[in-house]
Amino acid sequence: MSSSSEAELLHTFKGIPFTTRSSPELLKSLDTFDAREDDVLLVSYPKSGTHWLAGVITKLYNTQVTITSPIEFGDISQLEELNKLSSKRIIPTHLDYNMLPPNFKNKKCKMIYISRNPKDTAVSMFHYYRDNPNLPTVDTWTAFFDLFLKGNVVCGSWFDHFLSWEEHEDDKNILFLFYEDMKKDLPKVVKEITLFLSLNVSDKDIQDICEKSSFSEMKNDTEKENNDPTHTVCALTSNRKLIFRKG
Ligand code: A3P
Repeated sequence: MSSSSEAELLHTFKGIPFTTRSSPELLKSLDTFDAREDDVLLVSYPKSGTHWLAGVITKLYNTQVTITSPIEFGDISQLEELNKLSSKRIIPTHLDYNMLPPNFKNKKCKMIYISRNPKDTAVSMFHYYRDNPNLPTVDTWTAFFDLFLKGNVVCGSWFDHFLSWEEHEDDKNILFLFYEDMKKDLPKVVKEITLFLSLNVSDKDIQDICEKSSFSEMKNDTEKENNDPTHTVCALTSNRKLIFRKG
């Protein structure tokens, strides 16, 4: 990476680059994290539509649920905060399957993995690198693309991440979604999510939720601060305004 501040912004844990917003102590402690059977994990490689999916999922529940900060974000106190939450937890993460706290696997928690084609993911990530002060700066697209292909970017290789999850595509507790399918037919994907989460939501409500989850609505909500602008589901920034670029 070309920035001189790279060493201050990134560190490597188990061979994967993380920002310093994920402390090594926290990452080490993930192995012992206590999952609850009703936890839902929202899993993605960065820039795959995580906020879009999180926006849809919050609107689907009518009981109180909390979309927490990403499990790998912050210092060790983050895990205590998560333990203290009394409501049902929807927990976002960019971790690859091998780094996921084993308890989520043992308890067969429901997990939703959203992916996006690597070309658009790379383009979106390139802009994120340029706009997000928590990431090293990159000078050109060519330089960034080379890093992306080598997996020398935050959260590691897109390919390794995807493959680590794809190996589990037949696991009943994991639902695989694609950003492109959400673009093509959002109501169909939302219906799929309701079935997976065993939520009873009418077709009319699904239609309303889809309208409120369009790119322009979500971007406007963030600009008008109808959504907390300092809460994101991405461990790489807390600034929601950096998320809604082009859609
Ligand atoms: P672009 O940078 O290509 O515009 P994440 O939430 O995982 O960080 O992903 C961010 C990407 O999802 C950005 O892509 C963002 O614009 C896009 N996105 C966010 N909300 C969206 C929506 N409602 N509809 C379509 N794309 C959306």
